Amino acid sequence: MLAMGLGVAAYGAAVPGETHQATGCKVGEMTTDSARVWMRRTGASQRLANGIVRKAHNKDAKLLPPDTKIETLEGSAAGAPGYMRVVYKGGPSGATKWLDVNEAADFATQATLTGLRPDTPYTYVVETRATRNGRVDGELTGAFRTLPVAARPAPVSIAMLSCQMYCHMDRPDGFHLYESIQRDAPHFLLSCGDNVYYDNEDPIANSEAVARYHWQRMYSLPTLVNSLRHTGGYWQKDDHDVFSNDAWPTMPDKRMEPFTFAQGQRIFREQVPAPLTGRPMYRTVRAGADIELWLPEARDYRTPNDDPDGPGKTIWGAEQKAWLMKSLRASTATWKILVNPNPIVGPDRTTKNDNHANPGFAHESREIREFLKNNFEGSVISFCGDRHWQYHSVDPETGLHEFGCGPASDEHAGGTPGLDKVRHRFHRVLGGYASLAVSREGGSCSLRVQHRDVKGVTVHSHTFTRKA
Ligand SMILES: [Fe+2]
Repeated sequence: MLAMGLGVAAYGAAVPGETHQATGCKVGEMTTDSARVWMRRTGASQRLANGIVRKAHNKDAKLLPPDTKIETLEGSAAGAPGYMRVVYKGGPSGATKWLDVNEAADFATQATLTGLRPDTPYTYVVETRATRNGRVDGELTGAFRTLPVAARPAPVSIAMLSCQMYCHMDRPDGFHLYESIQRDAPHFLLSCGDNVYYDNEDPIANSEAVARYHWQRMYSLPTLVNSLRHTGGYWQKDDHDVFSNDAWPTMPDKRMEPFTFAQGQRIFREQVPAPLTGRPMYRTVRAGADIELWLPEARDYRTPNDDPDGPGKTIWGAEQKAWLMKSLRASTATWKILVNPNPIVGPDRTTKNDNHANPGFAHESREIREFLKNNFEGSVISFCGDRHWQYHSVDPETGLHEFGCGPASDEHAGGTPGLDKVRHRFHRVLGGYASLAVSREGGSCSLRVQHRDVKGVTVHSHTFTRKA
């Protein structure tokens, strides 16, 4: 815990422990000189520990009885109106203005810190109060780091995770992996989809209120609160945290009515630090001279999965694909990391029809793999979440390397097509995360990729080297 006392004295004594932030705070979208802070005011300072437990998976997942009050459910953290701000320190120091939080956006808000210094650790306090001039509640402290500038070679480390299902958490206070990532202290983390599961774990989300409950109970878990307030991140969405299994924008799901894909899109941006309103979810993250990450959006622009494959069938859509290709060509980064939430190389199960490793998207898959092969001399590496096993594979057609980071717990692992002797270099059907690190030595720059188990033990390591 960071010892800080910024900004509180001027507004009267805080009540120790009464943060009114049961769902924690998250810093994201860091650039060389800015960051977005997500915060949410809650009535209580802790999640509801002794409420009605709703845990079941797949076919056993049910809708809530119609008269259920969300605030009676285990892990709920009802929002409360008031005001919030961020006080930050690290050079330059500063504070945002007080922002009003209310029911319209689930009592959450996001503030952009600007004018920050590159590659600099910052500490911060999120403050809340119930009324405009009232007493400030107990402070919630945290830390993050800004990105190094593109011109400067800088060692950078990143943790990548995916697929956290509430009924598959591996300890009562959440997930071992968050504690492991906090111990690793990466520059930032990347959560590449399935942050919650609206459709195939209990309760099935059929309203905004139930969808928001999924976020409350997940992000109020102590291991998540503690890890995320000490590490900045970037969040991508996938099918389960926007709507339903293998979803596209017009896909119906009777069980979830009247909840819609469009509501899922809006709630995602409400619940994590996100690009500014009006900007697309696809974006790049440039962290120093040696690494740039592409975070494509894999749900918003896709054609229906059950359309026949061909030149018109797409996951990314024409506009995003043009952006992806143009920005990859323009990048001067030594390593270019394509973090698609879903696999491109795979292999995946033959029964699936949702991603670039499946026959249903073979045309676009070949287009992107050929493009990468013909233009980047192996400097582009593919990463994905979504699949519930850890792997390193190499595409026999184009030589593209792909790393699947794996699910967030051992309990959530499974579904693999099995070891593929042609493509797999590593294959492990258990939970964990991926760790990436770039560094220079002499005239060369290395990218070390490690799969770690949920406790942070390295189970596989592969290092790429290029001339810097
Ligand atoms: Fe998943």
